[in-house]
Amino acid sequence: MKRDEQIRLLKHLIHQLDSGTNLDAGVMLRAPADVYASPQRAALERERFFRDYPQMIGMSGDLPENGSFLTRDDWGVKILATRGKDGQFRAFLNACRHRGVAVEDQVRGKKARFVCPFHAWTYSSEGDLVGVPKADHFGDVDKSCRGLIELPAVEKYGVLLVHPQRDGRIDAESVLEGLGPDFDNWGFQDYVHMGGDVYDMPLNWKLAIDTFGETYHFSSLHRNTLFPVFHGNVQGFDHWQRNHRMILCTREIDAMRLRPESEWKIRGPAFPVYWLFPNVMFNVGEHMVIVVRVYPHATEVGRSVSQISFYLDPEVAHTDDARLAPAEAARTFGQIIRDEDYVAASGSQRAADSGMQDSFVFGRNEPTLHHYHNTYNRELGLPPLEAIDG
Ligand code: FES
Ligand SMILES: [Fe+2]
Repeated sequence: MKRDEQIRLLKHLIHQLDSGTNLDAGVMLRAPADVYASPQRAALERERFFRDYPQMIGMSGDLPENGSFLTRDDWGVKILATRGKDGQFRAFLNACRHRGVAVEDQVRGKKARFVCPFHAWTYSSEGDLVGVPKADHFGDVDKSCRGLIELPAVEKYGVLLVHPQRDGRIDAESVLEGLGPDFDNWGFQDYVHMGGDVYDMPLNWKLAIDTFGETYHFSSLHRNTLFPVFHGNVQGFDHWQRNHRMILCTREIDAMRLRPESEWKIRGPAFPVYWLFPNVMFNVGEHMVIVVRVYPHATEVGRSVSQISFYLDPEVAHTDDARLAPAEAARTFGQIIRDEDYVAASGSQRAADSGMQDSFVFGRNEPTLHHYHNTYNRELGLPPLEAIDG
């Protein structure tokens, strides 16, 4: 993020703190509860957002070297991603061209060859079929036509994008609209993968995402965890067509503001959270980013899987002492999401499932949720959420 932008956003937070104000969307919105519980809606979302929309599968640091690979199984289709000998990021259906068995089961590693466990057909990092055992018995396989099925894949601003359809198109600038310059500025392409976690929880994927959308809850739900570190009910918000950026405010800002403006910086005193529509949040700390990718469960509407990944600034990632604090902060942050946000929001799921509470409310101080849900509606061809008076 450019320096003058950092100063502008920090001054905005300070103004909110001093004036006791927060963002104000001007209206409250009525959020129908059945969007979290309807099987028809879940089927529509799956088609539109997870089977026909570019998917963010990881960061450049997930494929750190030529020959690195990564597998994903997040939307019902198994993916094998590689960085070839040429350094190029590619993505394939993780399915052997003989009888479809996954050619790689490990989540990540480094390999020059992928050997199918069934009959040992062998593929290169570039997806070429390079070996068929007992070919004289099997038959005359034209290897040039039997490489792994390749999917559109683009690496941009440190982000790995894959289109779930073979003939899909990825316009990375459009997908990452608004986020690219900041990601570039943070040097995300050099961030180092340091681990992660998986939370399989009883709440719709959008309820999981909604928990990231406001700081109104910090002084209540996170009273003993995040609230001592963050100012609640204060935040910045900028949006583009589908994506947006929230700026959370930490208590480090109280000391920062006493120092000369030339020493101010946004990471630390504030905490940018970038939303990549429809299901990814990048939570940016001083030396780390916590990426949260949320997916609907394969069959249960009221269940979702959050894939949490931690990445560290290369400046600290390779130093034992320096990486301890950000790595610990990332782990703690993840646990708070799981144990506090997702537990609370699984209560919202029960209410939605009851069929008796027909709606929830997004407040004037929750403009991020307004933007997210109205973008969601627009992408599904639905009207915006209804404004309400009370
Ligand atoms: S299914 Fe892969 S070698 Fe037979
Ligand atoms: Fe929270």
